[in-house]
Amino acid sequence: MTAINAVTDFAVEGDVGVITLNSPPVNALSAAVRDGLAGGMAAAAADPAVKAVVIVCEGRTFIAGADITEFGGAQKGASLYDVQEAIENSPKPVVAAIHGTALGGGLEVALTCHYRVAVPSARCGLPEVNLGLLPGAGGTQRLPRVVGVEKALEMMTSGQHVPAKQCLEMGLVDELVEEGKLREGAIAFAKKIVAEHRPLKKVRESNDKVEAARGHPEIFANFRKANARKFRGFLAPEYNICCIEAAVNQPFDEGMKTERKLFGELMSGSQSAAQRYAFFAERQANKVPDVPDDTAVIPVNKVGIIGGGTMGGGIAMNFLNVGIPVTIVEVKQDALDRGLGVIRRNYERSRTAKPEETEARMSRLTGSLDMSALADCDLIIEAVFERMDIKKDIFAKLDAICKPGAILATNTSGLNIDEIASVTKRPEAVIGLHFFSPANVMKLLEIVRADHTSKEVINTSMKLARKIGKIAVLVGVCPGFVGNRILGARQREANKLIMEGAMPWDVDRVLYDFGFPMGPFAMSDLAGLDIGWVKEKSKGETIRDVLCEMDRRGQKTGAGWYDYDEDRNAKPSPVTEKILHDFIVKSGANPRHVSDDEIRERCLYPMINEGAKILEEGKAIRASDIDVVWENGYGWPVYEGGPMWYGDKVGLDKVLGKMREFQATMGDAFKPAPLLEKLAAAGKTFQNQG
Ligand code: 3HC
Repeated sequence: MTAINAVTDFAVEGDVGVITLNSPPVNALSAAVRDGLAGGMAAAAADPAVKAVVIVCEGRTFIAGADITEFGGAQKGASLYDVQEAIENSPKPVVAAIHGTALGGGLEVALTCHYRVAVPSARCGLPEVNLGLLPGAGGTQRLPRVVGVEKALEMMTSGQHVPAKQCLEMGLVDELVEEGKLREGAIAFAKKIVAEHRPLKKVRESNDKVEAARGHPEIFANFRKANARKFRGFLAPEYNICCIEAAVNQPFDEGMKTERKLFGELMSGSQSAAQRYAFFAERQANKVPDVPDDTAVIPVNKVGIIGGGTMGGGIAMNFLNVGIPVTIVEVKQDALDRGLGVIRRNYERSRTAKPEETEARMSRLTGSLDMSALADCDLIIEAVFERMDIKKDIFAKLDAICKPGAILATNTSGLNIDEIASVTKRPEAVIGLHFFSPANVMKLLEIVRADHTSKEVINTSMKLARKIGKIAVLVGVCPGFVGNRILGARQREANKLIMEGAMPWDVDRVLYDFGFPMGPFAMSDLAGLDIGWVKEKSKGETIRDVLCEMDRRGQKTGAGWYDYDEDRNAKPSPVTEKILHDFIVKSGANPRHVSDDEIRERCLYPMINEGAKILEEGKAIRASDIDVVWENGYGWPVYEGGPMWYGDKVGLDKVLGKMREFQATMGDAFKPAPLLEKLAAAGKTFQNQG
């Protein structure tokens, strides 16, 4: 075995040269890895005993892509194109041996190899689209030549990681080798290639599949149309599609030029910068400075949930999905039956769960009317009404029932967890686990650290979140925590704007155009205006009271802020307009024209300001954590990075200037946070507070 460099070895086994990369954590294509590959290929070329080459990786995965941390820096080491050329033009067959994930540049390297083998657990994908990019190392031209245009469109615009078995079926992988025996299997495969004198298969020369799509522009038109909603606002999906069109309509080398040009445009644009930031922000959120990764973890083998409603049921599904038994406690039998029934129906309706999986999951679920059924649970999550007295009562009972060491969690979306913990004799065991609805779908989990929460409880919660597929962000106790507190700032302005002359559909349109899935008034119609509204107490004092009294309670009643047709299409409502007009006049004001710019600034800048307050109060660890919350829990468009990133993009001096202007005319709701003032004065940003 010869060391090519610090991350690459070369060995000759019989007549096969084996290049082994070992660059933790994910063998990303850093300068050292590219140099290692170039050196390994040169060593293989120079050794006459070598008849074929295998490229294999140590550690958890095959090459998982370009090294994203190198983007934007000066190019060092061998260029990826040169490495790929050396592989593709090698006179000796090259075999990629894949385990873990072959992603992005990693799969693009494998696509320049003449053959690819993989273990069954491996996955392949071109996920660049999720970083606001397209595959920039020939992937856009080679993938459609292997899997065909339709599959390439699907893979490249979704970024999905395709399981090895499927890769085999679509020709992306030539052979599966036994799990755990990749190296031996790949060497045996390479020997077979040599013995059978198989040709040097160059993907670039294989044109059948792209030619089949030539003269059929409808393939692309239909794909665009079918996915218009999903791709809205994002540049990268369209750019990926254009590259596949180029693969179909241009010769390979021309297609490569198109790819390179479009890749450059995306790479230098603000969307990809925001999406790459989001990638690292999510991973950064896992790190808690005073809770090291090796902090003890409490084994969680059984979960208890109090409350079998929509929230409790959704939370339960997360644990059942990963094999953890759950006991749900309800107060009444019919509520319990209903809750368990909803979970079963959700599984039965799910496209991903097979019938036998549904049964397996349901077999891990039990229900009870007695809280003492939670005595042997390792984690108990309370998911009942947002009322402090009820929660305190439950926690006092849990304290008496639950075994020592159990984690006592509340799903409150904003109540004071220190107060809840105070009724127990074990405040160190109490934590907030704020799931978002629907809890089995939404990715975000706000983990709320109270004054006395132990590090073990925090670490266990963070690790468990990952296990159930959530993106966890640790936040501190304050009204509304991070997400709802910032939402409050936006909602306050949205409500004020419609009292000044903007229509609900104006506010919604501006926020929708910014990239949110829907605006606050459309959202309110969807959720129902009557949540928390009590008919008997309603005196027509607020616009909501009036709308509810008129039975305009949202989509479910065919009218709310908007009017709805029978297909639930929304139309601006003259009734709402009149109600608003009357309210404004009654308040002694005159409706005025409110510009779209003002709506955007009034709704978004106070969110940035609230984020700054959260940071200075230490309720979020870092600015990017706030952005992770807003992207994954509230639909902030990922290509705009999150409120704090967006503040930096706009310029903190500009945000501050507007806040001061609004403060002068509209009062202290706009009072700038000291941190915003400090950073703006120093010309700094939230990301780089220096
Ligand atoms: N470059 C640099 N660092 C990377 C990286 C990459 N491509 N992929 C992962 N990492 C880092 C992560 O930041 C993380 O670092 P940390 O431990 O300091 O936080 C560490 O590797 C482990 O990553 P994960 O926590 O995500 O580990 P998982 O095991 O959960 O997931 C993975 C592994 C599926 C490989 C996941 O990391 C992933 O999806 N990575 C990105 C893959 C990707 O997008 N590839 C395309 C890159 S762009 C490209 O190739 C351009 C080309 O076309 C020219």
